[in-house]
Amino acid sequence: MLRCSVRVFDTPHLAAAAAGEAFIDGVSEFNRRLAGVAAGRTMKPVYDHLVSAEARSSGLFSRTTFVQLDEVVSAGRGDASFSDEIDRHLLSRLSGGYRTFLVINGQTNQPDVEANRHRATILENGGLGVQLLGIGVNGHVGFNEPGCEPDSRCRVTELAMSTLKRNGYPPDTRAVTLGIAEIRSAQRIIIVATGAAKSPAVKAMIEGQKSRSCPASLLRGHPDLALFMDRAAAKDLS
Ligand code: GLP
Repeated sequence: MLRCSVRVFDTPHLAAAAAGEAFIDGVSEFNRRLAGVAAGRTMKPVYDHLVSAEARSSGLFSRTTFVQLDEVVSAGRGDASFSDEIDRHLLSRLSGGYRTFLVINGQTNQPDVEANRHRATILENGGLGVQLLGIGVNGHVGFNEPGCEPDSRCRVTELAMSTLKRNGYPPDTRAVTLGIAEIRSAQRIIIVATGAAKSPAVKAMIEGQKSRSCPASLLRGHPDLALFMDRAAAKDLS
């Protein structure tokens, strides 16, 4: 059984706004748990929507603890981090503030230790309520790349060639990511996919075999999984 709510919108903006509303509902419904947030181009209009909604309802996130999905390991490189990006696009723009942001430190020389620490922090803080996700062109979620284990946990991962190229990372770049198991542990999962480049990944996710070759497909069967996309991302669906 598919068990995934699929919603297609005319524009990326409308898809982002609807995903943003679902996230706000999730934050409210699962308010004792964490709100998982991702970096990436797809998230920018979702965060714009959250910022606008919060401006109309100041304090909307004042009690929310946000938590980071994934981070590039960049010790010594001084690259801009995903946590900085999330701060810039969302958190620093919330007029009523937020409780806290549980980040992954990508600057560490001990990323394995950092991955275990992040995993433990999530558990200590009540676990994930709502998790907001993009999807990679190869079907990755977070940095769970094709071939990942369905029960994978927060860990250090190698990146797929297509991910390295699309993001302009050096060949040996690694990342820390929540695993499929932690993402599945969220009470609600919201995936946003916009643009034609994502259409093969979306098709594999919802119409292909549930398989490690498309990590997003491993989320199928979750009781509260919703996919928001624009027409371009949905163009290959039957
Ligand atoms: C990236 C990151 C994710 C992101 C996804 C989609 O590589 N691992 O955090 O959600 O892939 O990114 P984008 O929205 O830029 O296409």
